[in-house]
Amino acid sequence: MIASASVVLGTPLDPHSPQARAIADLFDDTLLVCAGIFALVTVLVTYAVFKFRDCKSPTPKQIEGHTRFEIGWTLAPVLVLVVIFFLTVRAVNGSDPPADRAPDITIIAHQWWWEVRYKSGAVTANEVHIPTGKALIVAVKSADVIHDFWVPDLGRKIDAVPGRTSTIWLQADSPGSYLGACAEYCGAQHAWMRILVVAEPEEQFAAWEHQTLEAPPPPESEAAVRGAQLFGQMTCVRCHAIHGEGGQAGPDLTHLAARSTLGAGVIQNTPEELKRWLKDPQDVKEGSHMPNVQLSDAQLADFVAYFETLK
Ligand code: CUA
Repeated sequence: MIASASVVLGTPLDPHSPQARAIADLFDDTLLVCAGIFALVTVLVTYAVFKFRDCKSPTPKQIEGHTRFEIGWTLAPVLVLVVIFFLTVRAVNGSDPPADRAPDITIIAHQWWWEVRYKSGAVTANEVHIPTGKALIVAVKSADVIHDFWVPDLGRKIDAVPGRTSTIWLQADSPGSYLGACAEYCGAQHAWMRILVVAEPEEQFAAWEHQTLEAPPPPESEAAVRGAQLFGQMTCVRCHAIHGEGGQAGPDLTHLAARSTLGAGVIQNTPEELKRWLKDPQDVKEGSHMPNVQLSDAQLADFVAYFETLK
């Protein structure tokens, strides 16, 4: 598993999907057109500066009302804009999904994490697995305020608006991990709303999806068994589900131990960091909706032992 700390936010200028490439191509083409105009203007201005220097003092011939020039410098910008218009339409067609296809994955933005639901019923959080080379449709929603889903290497941004479903393509050319972020200010922890897209060959993806649908293995050690009991007795289940049992206000924990980070990227998912998170979530991610439930050291140890079995 690749830790998201080793994966940095990509750039739209280095696209890893056909949809991102459509946008990068539009940028490149527009930059070329602008560079051409810049070069032309630079040459003309330089020529005029030298040709009509004050010391030589020639007064340029006046051409006011010159019909051919008037038509020329009206038509030239119109043509440039027409070209850019068609390049833009091409990029929009290449990067926006059709409206009539059912989504493969639903991503619901929350303050401050991402809920991920697959057509198969698989549920996860802050990590999206996809098969490489397949154009998937993602429905993007919000559970609270306006967020924005953005994986720079893989495509355009899309707002997650409460009460509305937007769709976006999600595709990766080659296996790898691509980091995304929330791109719309959404409150205190907007900066820690990372999402990791893990692209895998079809077979590996199918194995991951199968594994994600399975119940985690039952806890074996005494500490883990105690942790599982605590989870059921305390308030955890009001917000967190494990294999379908529990609330949905917080991230699904069924396969928590298989994820690379905690708190939507704020810390690495190691037993030490998990313990630090459970001891005081507000110390790790201030403003997070996970309260400090004042666990004793013994309870912390039991919870960590249990959560580490959730593979
Ligand atoms: Cu969610 Cu910014």
